[in-house]
Amino acid sequence: MSARRTLSVWPVAQQTARVQRQGRYLPASTAHPAKMLPELARQAIAAYSDVGELVLDPMCGTGTTLVEAVHLGREAIGVELEPRWVALAAANLTLARDQGATGRGLATRGDARRLADGLLDQLAGRVPLILSSPPYGDSLHGQVRTGPKPVEQYDNRYSHNPDNLAQLPRQRGRRGRPSFTTALAEILAGCRRLLAADGFLILTARPYRRKGELVDLPGQLEQLAREAGLELHERLVALLCGLRGTELVPRPSFFQMQQQRSGAIPRMLLIAHEDVLVFRKPA
Ligand SMILES: C[S@@+](CC[C@H](N)C(=O)[O-])C[C@H]1O[C@@H](n2cnc3c(N)ncnc32)[C@H](O)[C@@H]1O
Repeated sequence: MSARRTLSVWPVAQQTARVQRQGRYLPASTAHPAKMLPELARQAIAAYSDVGELVLDPMCGTGTTLVEAVHLGREAIGVELEPRWVALAAANLTLARDQGATGRGLATRGDARRLADGLLDQLAGRVPLILSSPPYGDSLHGQVRTGPKPVEQYDNRYSHNPDNLAQLPRQRGRRGRPSFTTALAEILAGCRRLLAADGFLILTARPYRRKGELVDLPGQLEQLAREAGLELHERLVALLCGLRGTELVPRPSFFQMQQQRSGAIPRMLLIAHEDVLVFRKPA
């Protein structure tokens, strides 16, 4: 199928994340520290797949991509390492079905690194759309508790599992541990294996700061995907701020605001966009 895209900017935050999720996802989903905006998942699925086709998310978290896929009449399969999020993704899918979603969805526990060597083997070369967002910078994560004590951060981790990509060392792994980059490269190789010849792999990611320094995660993803034998088809921008007439309405996380206001990083910009990277197999 050909992509039905007309603009390279998607305004996906006209409503806050909370409003987008209200009634459509279980309240327990709030505990996941880095969920995709439902509107972003919807736009990607609508533009890059057809009704009845399969959408796969190899790191599905609470199942946003799966829920939006089944509401749009697609089939959906999600893989997630952490049992807690698998259970939540499955429960969110049940809720979607109860609300009339016509597609079928499944969330399963697994390590996405195994997509390259056996996991979901039966789908090799058959998946029309893979849509996912890898774990990224902890500076944006978590909920806030205020009260008599100083501000407290909670729900700011996916888990304490050392195999979770978010816990892997950024560069070189020590004591036999792979680095984040090595693990991600394996996952991308697995995605390439499952992708149909004319399928799309869409990764969404935003740049973030680590110890004050800007990390170009989308740029890293682009390079890793190329090294995995995929070709960049489109690079779009999902606006994480609202649009009101000629004004942009910022929607930063508490921790972004806190960092900016502390002044520790001179002229720090609030990240108000997410890169949407669309890859294909070379012809
Ligand atoms: C950015 S979150 C995805 C959030 C999801 N899109 C949502 O809306 O809830 C990345 C997810 O990847 C999961 N993850 C990390 N390492 C993984 C691995 N090796 N295999 C599968 N999932 C993994 C994390 O536990 C986390 O839930």
